Amino acid sequence: MFETLKEQPADKILELIGLYKADPRAEKIDLGVGVYKNAEGVTPVMRAVKAAEKKIWEEQTTKAYTGLAGDPVYVDTMIDLVLGNSVPGDQIAAVTTPGGTGAVRQAFELTQSATPGARVFVSDPTWPNHLSILKYLGMETIPYRYFDSETGGVNFDGMIADLKAGLKPGDVVLLHGCCHNPTGANLNMVQWKEVVAVLNEKGAVPMIDIAYQGFGDGLEEDAAGTRYVAENVPELLIAASCSKNFGIYRERTGLLMAVGKDTSRRDVTQGMLAFLNRQNFSFPPDHGARVVGTILSDAELRADWKAELEDVRLGMLELRKQLAGELQRLSGSDRFAFLGEHRGMFSRLGTTPELVQKMRADSGIYMVGDSRMNIAGLNTATVPILAQAIIDAGV
Ligand code: LMR
Repeated sequence: MFETLKEQPADKILELIGLYKADPRAEKIDLGVGVYKNAEGVTPVMRAVKAAEKKIWEEQTTKAYTGLAGDPVYVDTMIDLVLGNSVPGDQIAAVTTPGGTGAVRQAFELTQSATPGARVFVSDPTWPNHLSILKYLGMETIPYRYFDSETGGVNFDGMIADLKAGLKPGDVVLLHGCCHNPTGANLNMVQWKEVVAVLNEKGAVPMIDIAYQGFGDGLEEDAAGTRYVAENVPELLIAASCSKNFGIYRERTGLLMAVGKDTSRRDVTQGMLAFLNRQNFSFPPDHGARVVGTILSDAELRADWKAELEDVRLGMLELRKQLAGELQRLSGSDRFAFLGEHRGMFSRLGTTPELVQKMRADSGIYMVGDSRMNIAGLNTATVPILAQAIIDAGV
């Protein structure tokens, strides 16, 4: 049967890792995959994660299965981290998933079960793997305008016009909770409110992917849009990731939440989420979830984690400002100021694949073909090199 398998297209983000490695130039700069790196180019294990792992190693007495939803301490503390007090806990069903991607996949599967034929509206652009998973599941995907490459900001009028014109009851609208991937351009609170009004008017269901909480304006600020949605719609799906804000990428630690308007469907929904886990992989991975639960439920570890995360966030913000400043100096214009306005790990430069390729060939700059740059791939010494390469390429 293997001879009938078709070759799958390479994932454009993961492909870059190999291309970068194969480049012999010492001065090359990796702005590809979304992994945080410090000024030395290292993706560190956070202090609180190390401490929690030590505590678990000392105290854990069994590796027997958890429940299908995973460790309840993790589930409860993560619900609190993402949703705060916005919705009563008995309206929320939630399960641990293998990474944020696992939560995204199962949110789509739940949608398919509940509303066969539901269409999923996605921002243009969105994380390519959203599209790939939807295609794999055979779900219809409809793009809504989102990024304005002229201004580097959100094309909000286009977004609202597309949602108003296209949405039907039961459609799902995928939104990024913060730190939009790949663009870095985000909705403000006024805009979140307007989106919610349109979704409610149309009877569409929001799904929020929140993978970078704490990387934008702060832990609470980054959750504000998600919390507003949770308070103001009848139903909401949320896929959360701990990969980035806890730096536990390879541990695969995510959470899928389903928020209802009251308690009536909560137990059935919880059962469905547990069923999806059981069908896909049975019990979710535990180590990363237990680390996160240990940190969030311990005042000292939580404070230390927050402090380190804040340093990471501010470091990326400084690099953004430095890059926008360098480009202003070199170009003599404000046309790159949006890089300082964007938030999170990524910014889309808004240039062509040809110029991205030229920067790679001429200057060893590795960004994704759609001109997405991982800001954390920079340091204060490489920012001027990137700025010069952008100008030299004629962006
Ligand atoms: C990214 O967008 O680079 C990250 O989310 C990593 C990935 O899996 O694509």
